[in-house]
This record gives sequence, C-alpha cells and structure tokens, in this order.
Amino acid sequence: MSIFQVKEDVYWVGARDWNINSFHGPAYSTKQGTTYNSYLIKDEKNVLVDGVYKPFIDRFFEHIEEVVDFKDIDYYIVNHVEPDHSSSFPRTMERLRDDVTVVCSAKGKEGIIEHYGSGYNFEVVSTGDTINIGERNLAFVDASMLHWPDSMFTYIPEDKLLLPNDAFGMHYCTSQLFDDQVDDCLMMDEAKKYFANILTPFSSILLKKLKEVQEMDIEIDMIAPSHGIIWREDPNKIIQKYLEWAEGKAKEKALVIYETMWDSTELMAKKIADGLIDQGIEVQFYRKSDADKNDIIKEFLDAKAIIVGSPTINNVMIPELTPLLEELEGLRFKNKLGASFGSYGWRGGAAKRIADRLEGAKIELIDEPLEVKYVPDKEQLKECYEFGVSIAEKIKQS
Ligand code: FEO
Repeated sequence: MSIFQVKEDVYWVGARDWNINSFHGPAYSTKQGTTYNSYLIKDEKNVLVDGVYKPFIDRFFEHIEEVVDFKDIDYYIVNHVEPDHSSSFPRTMERLRDDVTVVCSAKGKEGIIEHYGSGYNFEVVSTGDTINIGERNLAFVDASMLHWPDSMFTYIPEDKLLLPNDAFGMHYCTSQLFDDQVDDCLMMDEAKKYFANILTPFSSILLKKLKEVQEMDIEIDMIAPSHGIIWREDPNKIIQKYLEWAEGKAKEKALVIYETMWDSTELMAKKIADGLIDQGIEVQFYRKSDADKNDIIKEFLDAKAIIVGSPTINNVMIPELTPLLEELEGLRFKNKLGASFGSYGWRGGAAKRIADRLEGAKIELIDEPLEVKYVPDKEQLKECYEFGVSIAEKIKQS
C-alpha cells in the first residue's frame, strides 16, 4: 500500500515520478523528480481532488481503489487543467458514475472542454461558494493566473486543510511527503526554484491573493499542494516565504554569468566578481555551459543584480546565453539591476546585445557595456575590478 492519510479520511492517492528530469518540455530541470498529488476525501459524499499525469494513470487508479470504489465517488474537483494534473481526466471519467459532478472554475470548465470535449456534469464554483459533503464543507477560492486562468484553491474548514494545486508546490519526489520528514534545506531550495521559475510573473497577483486569504481569516494547519511536499509542521513558513519572494525582497547579492571562448571573458568575469566580493557583496558565479538555467533563475530571485558576459562571435553573443536571457524577459523580475561585459577580436557587439536583452527584461542597466579587445591586459583587468566595485556601490545604494 503506497497511499497514505493526510488527515483523517483524507488520502493521498497521487503518483511519484522519480525519473523525470525536465518539466514543461525542456524548460524546467527537475533533478529531484516530482510528484502528482491527488487527494481523496471520504465522507457522506466522496470527493476526488485533482488527477495525475497520464503515464501514471494505472498507479493512480490502483491508489483510488485502495480507498473507495470508483462508483462511490460523487465529486471530482479539478483545481487546474494543465495536463500534468488533468491528462488522466478522460479515462478517470470513464470509470466514474455518469452523474458524477465535475467541480471547477468557469475557466476550468472552458479548459476541460477545450482539452477533452464536452458532455460532463459541471458545477462551476468561485470564491465564496461551498459544497457540503456530510461532515465537511468544501470552500473554493478563485486563484486565476496562479498560474493559469482556470486555477482555483479548495479549502476544507473542518480539517483546516488547503488544497491549492500548484501553489506552494515544488518538484521534489521523496518516499515521505511531509515537510517534517525531509531535508529542510533541499525542500526550501526546491520551493524557491519552483517559485522563481514558475510564479515570478504572477507575483503581484499572488500578493493580492495572499492578502485576500489572510483577510478571510481562515485557519490553515496544512497545505497539501499538487507537487512535492505537504506542509503540515509549519504551513506558515511557506506562506511567509511566498510573501517575501512575491514582494521581490533582495539581498546584497549579484550573479556573474558568462561564456568564454579563449578565456578572455572568463578573466574579466573573475575580476568583476573580485570587485563585488571585496565590497562585501554575495556573489554566485556561473559559466553558463556548466550551469543549470533554472538554478541560476532560482538564485536571481533574491539577488539584486545580474552581470552577464560573452565574447563576440560573428557579431553576436555566444548563443548558449540566449535561453537564459529569453527566460528573464518572460519572468519579468522587478527592481533588478544589470550590466554586461565581454571580449572581442576585430569587432565587438556581444556585450551591447546582452545589455539590450537585459533592458528588454526590464532590468535597469547600471553601466555601459564593458568590452576589451582580444586579451585583457593589467590595466583592463583593473578596469574590470573597478566595474565590479562600482556595481557593488549601486547595489548598496539601491
Ligand atoms: Fe502542475 Fe500548472 O500544473
């Protein structure tokens, strides 16, 4: 038996995906795997909350059958239509009674129909709506754009249990799925990576939603998301972290990221980092081809500045930097500083190109791009060091 009780008569019936190493296609590296958390509530009416990614459907069905007969399920709540949770929906519906009620937001209904067709018995809900299932009530909170238009949270006041689907989740697969059972540093690191890479663009919506939920004065003693760890020991810990991350609180910290061909840009990067470090700035230093894009983005979440370097090749930057810069533009981090640098042979251009991309990502440029021809000499290395010092001053002033 690999299901477990989350609360009395509330069961985890999801699936562990130990082997997945990228999510959203190749966009998100999942070095710790992930889980698709689905929950079954046993009451006078039985309720299934969310599904799993289709390749795991047989395991999911086995788990459900360990708790109830499919024909005894009365409600199927779809908090979110993204296929990692809903691609099991059509086959699950084939197993359920014809009159089972599919509970979702208005956009959720649209999403289900657009993905899987119509003909289902929908009950559309929004903030303030409740459904009584016997001993318990299910309450719903609209969570549109956290992170899809259809997203919603389900809350069970009698259990003080929040089921927020993707929110407060992480891609972290473990045999034990509670926060007090796993390595705290790894757990918080994965939660941070998930926030930075998925939720950053929705930070202002998230802040409003967290305040709205706080004003509703609901008691939460467990948060059970749809990926990774269930927060039972201290759910407030992740709520406070979400507030901090969504507010864009930054440390005196900078990321130096570069690519190099014949070491010149690397020499520049090292001197810029020295200038920053000597001024007391925390530095994360990456040669992009040796680093994970999503880890860099995770570290950018609480950094103040990003300094990116590349030699010029065929009048442009080394293309391996492009996915990171493209991602930064999409994620729309707020209140960040940036700068660029690089070496060139007979004609520059890479550092300017990087600066343009940083500006496109709404990152405020601290300085003009710094370029050196061929190999930086002693004077030019000193200039790189001073470039770092000057960036450090801007970080401290901001
Ligand atoms: Fe885990 Fe937005 O799906």
